[in-house]
Amino acid sequence: MIFSVFQSCFLPILGKTSFMRLDALLSRFGYCSRREAISWIKRHTITYKGELCTSPSQKVTHEETIIDGEHVEFPNGIYVALYKPVGYICSHDEEEGDIIYDLLPYQWRHRNPAISSVGRLDKDTSGLLFITDDGKFIHRMTSPKKHIPKIYEVETENPIPAEAVELFASGTLQLEGERQVCRPAELIITDALHARIILTEGKYHQVRRMFAAVGAPVVKLHRPQIGNLTIESLELEPGEWVAFDPNEL
Ligand code: URA
Repeated sequence: MIFSVFQSCFLPILGKTSFMRLDALLSRFGYCSRREAISWIKRHTITYKGELCTSPSQKVTHEETIIDGEHVEFPNGIYVALYKPVGYICSHDEEEGDIIYDLLPYQWRHRNPAISSVGRLDKDTSGLLFITDDGKFIHRMTSPKKHIPKIYEVETENPIPAEAVELFASGTLQLEGERQVCRPAELIITDALHARIILTEGKYHQVRRMFAAVGAPVVKLHRPQIGNLTIESLELEPGEWVAFDPNEL
């Protein structure tokens, strides 16, 4: 009995059914700002439980709100895997050129909390990149303590010295300007100019700097895998994205 009272009190908070003002919902999911809500509501068709909404202060749930014929997209958070092509920057600043957010629905840029990439890939690096609006997920994925492997395929200008395998695995490599040494990394040399490297951390330009440190500057860098998710299993082409379940990582 106590349990059912507890449940009925807290279900709206713990479960998916939480009421919020319509203007807060529109702003949360990136349709418009709260200030713009009055005019936005007039220009769009919004229904709650089948009834037309006209007031920004109306209390609604996202489950029963239909906006221009559609349910709210990703109401419980955005978790998408993007195949970042070469040439795109991990930045929110449109002035900088082609940005990864150009590859995603425009409305997502206005969601609150904001979307962000989980770590970064350089402009000249291609590969798998996660985008989310869940700060805890970002923390979980980028914390070196979690040991989430990130796999990179590398092509170098000069032959990769065999000693790099031991050096990278040793956990003693100190990159210039870094206070902490690189964590042990697995290096598999596939031929003189090609290798795979598995990192569990993400220092600035780490792969390029590690290979430069052994005299083999990187000319091509690609990340095919994070954790157990691969570009191949997700069937992504460059520039494409797909939603994934963060619990499956
Ligand atoms: N290391 C790099 O040098 N660049 C990346 O984009 C990712 C890891």
